[in-house]
Amino acid sequence: MTPRCGDLLVTPMKKLITERLRLEPVCEGHAPEMFPVLADPALYTCLAAKPPKSVEELAERYARQAQGGSPDGKQRWLNWILRSVNDGDACAGFVQATLHTETTGDLGYILGTAFWGRGLALEACEAAITALLALPGLTTLFATVDRRNVRSLALLARLGFQRVERDTYPHGVADESDDVYRLERPA
Ligand SMILES: CC(C)(COP(=O)(O)OP(=O)(O)OC[C@H]1O[C@@H](n2cnc3c(N)ncnc32)[C@H](O)[C@@H]1OP(=O)(O)O)[C@@H](O)C(=O)NCCC(=O)NCCS
Repeated sequence: MTPRCGDLLVTPMKKLITERLRLEPVCEGHAPEMFPVLADPALYTCLAAKPPKSVEELAERYARQAQGGSPDGKQRWLNWILRSVNDGDACAGFVQATLHTETTGDLGYILGTAFWGRGLALEACEAAITALLALPGLTTLFATVDRRNVRSLALLARLGFQRVERDTYPHGVADESDDVYRLERPA
């Protein structure tokens, strides 16, 4: 039976495998391994988000995310935890998508600093984007990024995202410090 969250159908998620990564659908059990990765303040210099306060808080967040959508049924959530095969399957970060409509969603990602500079975020995002844009109806992904976030901007360029006018962002108002990027499903 197809899982449901509120009135919206929740998208069943599969584990994704790449050359150097496993992308696992998030579950509460990832919290103890992910907490030290996400507790690093260096990750948040260009983000509005804050580090998790405790393993317990992160476990609660992951339990919510694993439901696959918001309780009011308006958003679908797809969250993958990244495991790096060449680092003993260590948890390295996450990729997430929030689908706001049948056709559009937002992409987000964080990689632990120990894993930067190896193309792992690119590899993870490419796998997630391929899976996302294969979902029936989903045609467009957005990312909002602080203009100072050089690494994230370079990653979006490598993924093929294009900068668009801020006022065309369909999921609310982007922060003043952010630019808006869009990726369309290839024809
Ligand atoms: C944004 C973020 C995920 C980018 O991580 P990253 O490791 O720089 O990204 P990539 O996977 O694209 O790796 C690119 C680097 O790996 C190098 N690289 C090595 N092997 C590579 C390969 N096989 N393929 C591609 N790049 C490779 C590239 O040359 C590049 O090196 P550089 O850092 O010297 O320029 C990371 O900086 C991060 O988590 N930041 C904090 C959270 C954040 O800002 N999230 C985004 C919110 S919008």
